[in-house]
Amino acid sequence: MTTFKDQNRLSFALPKGRLEEQVKEYLAAKGISFSFKDRKLVARDDEGIFEFMLVKNVDLPTYVHHGIAGLGVCGEDVLYESGYDFLRLMPLDFGGTKICLAATAELADSIQAQRDWKSAISDGGLRVASKFTRFTRDYFHNLGIPVDLIKLNGSVELAPVLGLAPFIVDLVETGSTLKAHNLKVVQVLQEIGVYLVANPAYYKYHYRHINDVLARIG
Ligand code: PRP
Repeated sequence: MTTFKDQNRLSFALPKGRLEEQVKEYLAAKGISFSFKDRKLVARDDEGIFEFMLVKNVDLPTYVHHGIAGLGVCGEDVLYESGYDFLRLMPLDFGGTKICLAATAELADSIQAQRDWKSAISDGGLRVASKFTRFTRDYFHNLGIPVDLIKLNGSVELAPVLGLAPFIVDLVETGSTLKAHNLKVVQVLQEIGVYLVANPAYYKYHYRHINDVLARIG
């Protein structure tokens, strides 16, 4: 059994899901291979560099903020929602996506025809379902637009289809989930990049080791 923690290794949180395989491939291309065996959520590479922990992507900032993992890979969407400050050590050239305002194709087309989605704001504000409530609130408040926010944790595309909210703010990567639900982008709100981040105190303590590793994997 893998015991926790080996102080000679850099602790590194990986997000479960779409980024997980991309990070593995990225590190494998730099000669760092590992796998999570037998449903274990911790793993080590053979070279003795990292101790990986596999966490749900929305929990990743929590692990890094508390220094349980010194390093992590995370999209700006999740970083922003967390409200924590991290050092962004390096942008990664994969996993980029967009946060978009989307609606049913019918509503999106009528907004397009009027060239003004602001006309869709009702008395209570813009009714939006999203996982990204902090981002959504801040984005629209910066425009002076009140929002009537409904927090969801996933399958956000169902909200306009089932009538929970006319709009969603969600990630769009290939666009296939929107298309499958007859939804369309009304407006791209923000490009989202993926970063290797560090807990600031952890970086201060381990900066030599981290910089050596960065020179290899950067
Ligand atoms: C994300 C996002 C969209 C989908 C977009 O969901 O929230 O639902 O991916 O990707 P696409 O444009 O390539 O279709 P995720 O897969 O993380 O699952 P979730 O619905 O459980 O949040």
